[in-house]
Amino acid sequence: MLPALVMVLCLAAQLEAQLQVGFYRKTCPLAETIVKEVVTDAVKKESELAADFLRMHFHDCFVRGCDGSILINSTKNDVAEKDSPDNNPSLEGFDVIDAAKAKLEEACRGVVSCADIIAFAARDGVELRGGLSYEVPSGRRDGRISRSSEANENLPRPASNLEQLTQIFARKGLTQEDMIILSGKNIKGICKRCPASAGAHTIGVSRCSSITKRLYNFSTAAATDPTLDSGYAKTLKRRCPSGSAGSNLTVPMDPVSPEMFDSSYYRNLLRHRGLFASDQALMGSAKAARLVRRHAKYSPLFRQRFAEAMVKMGHIGVLTGEEGEVRFNCGVINGC
Ligand code: HEM
Ligand SMILES: *[C@@H]1O[C@H](CO)[C@@H](O)[C@H](O)[C@H]1NC(C)=O
Ligand SMILES: *[C@@H]1O[C@H](CO)[C@@H](O)[C@H](O)[C@H]1NC(C)=O
Ligand SMILES: *[C@@H]1O[C@H](CO)[C@@H](O)[C@H](O)[C@H]1NC(C)=O
Repeated sequence: MLPALVMVLCLAAQLEAQLQVGFYRKTCPLAETIVKEVVTDAVKKESELAADFLRMHFHDCFVRGCDGSILINSTKNDVAEKDSPDNNPSLEGFDVIDAAKAKLEEACRGVVSCADIIAFAARDGVELRGGLSYEVPSGRRDGRISRSSEANENLPRPASNLEQLTQIFARKGLTQEDMIILSGKNIKGICKRCPASAGAHTIGVSRCSSITKRLYNFSTAAATDPTLDSGYAKTLKRRCPSGSAGSNLTVPMDPVSPEMFDSSYYRNLLRHRGLFASDQALMGSAKAARLVRRHAKYSPLFRQRFAEAMVKMGHIGVLTGEEGEVRFNCGVINGC
């Protein structure tokens, strides 16, 4: 009777394998500590990397689920996600994830998935930039497929409008509120319950290529997006001269405090200093503007909501149990 019951329970557990906090507690107790050490060292040397890990997790989860597919190198036959225009050359930090993986392989061979390493690193990056730390449910398995074209199909664009953005997030099981909290895009103020402050777009940088169209080639006579504050436009044009789209030049996502995970995003919008058209669309109506004004005040609740939304994003399309594999090297699928 008892063994049968245990078997049924085990079977049920296998069928419904879920992520859980502390998944490696027994199999690799130092897993999260090792990742944190490697990430902390890297961010101390190069603070911008914190933003990269956060964005890497987002771009991994939206393409084939959070399965580490963003880490796989292109091969002769396949251009991988890593090399899609969404990720190459703007996304960095792959070498840090590979270094963390190498250390984990020394400590516990073949145990900790690459997908989980990204999820841990994103959390650690947020914390290092002043965001709230949070527990990351783990136990993700690694996928074996990575295609550049799928990044293009599944990731939002900086010029996307509200409907397009909402649809892209809904397809991943995320609400409009999740989207606004994660990215800091309270477009047209549709989210009434959203707390003050902002999301991922308060840290990091953007390459000039993501905004040159808005600066020099906008679809109006003036050629510059008229919703952009003229002083801010001047600053941006200095940093991103005409023809700089192909260069390595960048501008801060948040002109006030790009290093800190904080609430200045909405205050910037009030001054017409949203970097992307999709950011600034938020000020498009009186009602929305009122909402932004309210949200411009810092709310500690935001940090909590952001952490919750990150955990939710980290569940998108995960492989668990016996699905997929645990890659030995994050850059290549096993057995090839
Ligand atoms: C809502 C739709 C979103 C759009 C259209 C969007 C678009 C962009 C673009 C165009 C860049 C600049 C890339 C470059 O040219 O260098 C960027 C940067 C960034 N995004 Fe988003 N994003 C969105 C949502 C998110 C979400 C949900 C997260 C994370 C949870 C995120 C995290 C970041 C970070 C951290 C950066 C800075 C990267 C760095 O410093 O290298 N974004 N995003
Ligand atoms: C401006 O945009 C149009 C349409 O997207 C494009 O054909 C043209 O090459 C762009 N010009 C510059 C200078 O980037
Ligand atoms: C961009 O940066 C890379 C490496 O950091 C460098 O090799 C390359 O020359 C740079 N390209 C431009 C156009 O500045
Ligand atoms: C993947 O490519 C990067 C450079 O793009 C390289 O440094 C790394 O060693 C490669 N990984 C594997 C496993 O080949």
